[in-house]
Amino acid sequence: MWTIGAVPDAIENKPDFSAASAFRFDVLTLFPALFDGLKQESLLGKALQTGIVELHLHNWRSFATDKHRTVDDAPFGGGAGLVLKPDIVVNCLRAVKPMNSKSILLSPAGNLFTQQTAIAWSKLAGITLLCGRYEGFDARVDDHVDEVVSIGDFVLNGGEVAAMAIIESVARLLPGVIGNSASLHEESHQAGLLEYPQYTHPRDFEGAEVPPALLSGHHAQIAQWRHRQALLRTALRRPELVNHQTLSAKDAAWLTAELAISRANTD
Ligand code: 6GU
Repeated sequence: MWTIGAVPDAIENKPDFSAASAFRFDVLTLFPALFDGLKQESLLGKALQTGIVELHLHNWRSFATDKHRTVDDAPFGGGAGLVLKPDIVVNCLRAVKPMNSKSILLSPAGNLFTQQTAIAWSKLAGITLLCGRYEGFDARVDDHVDEVVSIGDFVLNGGEVAAMAIIESVARLLPGVIGNSASLHEESHQAGLLEYPQYTHPRDFEGAEVPPALLSGHHAQIAQWRHRQALLRTALRRPELVNHQTLSAKDAAWLTAELAISRANTD
């Protein structure tokens, strides 16, 4: 079993992935066809083909017991919408979840899923994602899953799109899924900061020029510029993330000055 540590050296050594066991995603949903596109998406499609990941879809409806194939019912206490029945959900979960898979119920009322969650889950053998529709799950299902998770402070019609976001973010961390593993270490959120701005040709786009530091050819200067731009961008767009950072005295002074300039410019 390959794990992704601080630096996945194993990737550079081109290990034999056929020897490693696949990371297994199980998805419980009323709409398995929604995942057809994801299965063909370039990186995940390739990872499925090469056996680095497996994706198994299960339909709640197959676990209905009455002739109408009922999976949901009206909420006690009244109100709009329908609630997935706990007997159906728990029966299905017990039947399909592999022993070594972590069960995750998707709900806008869950704990926030972050890059740190994706990193932690990528080290497991597999995850089982429970997607609800309508008004969600009977609350008693919570006791039968390992975690209840939300992907952000907004409401989706069901858990399927959230499950796809989680699958993509976890799968791309698995050794062998992304060709250039170095890109994993530089990107947004991996270090708790937003990614620094990137530029390509032309050098002058409608009067907007590429920052000179990037044209200098000095590795240390480029690295310092990128780190500071990541700090500045994070401070401007996501100030709550900067509080977690320990800044050098010089970087802190630079950031304070830049923030004063940008405030002066927006006043
Ligand atoms: Cl996991 N489910 C639904 N239905 N809405 C969401 C969500 C999940 N995360 C954010 N909004």
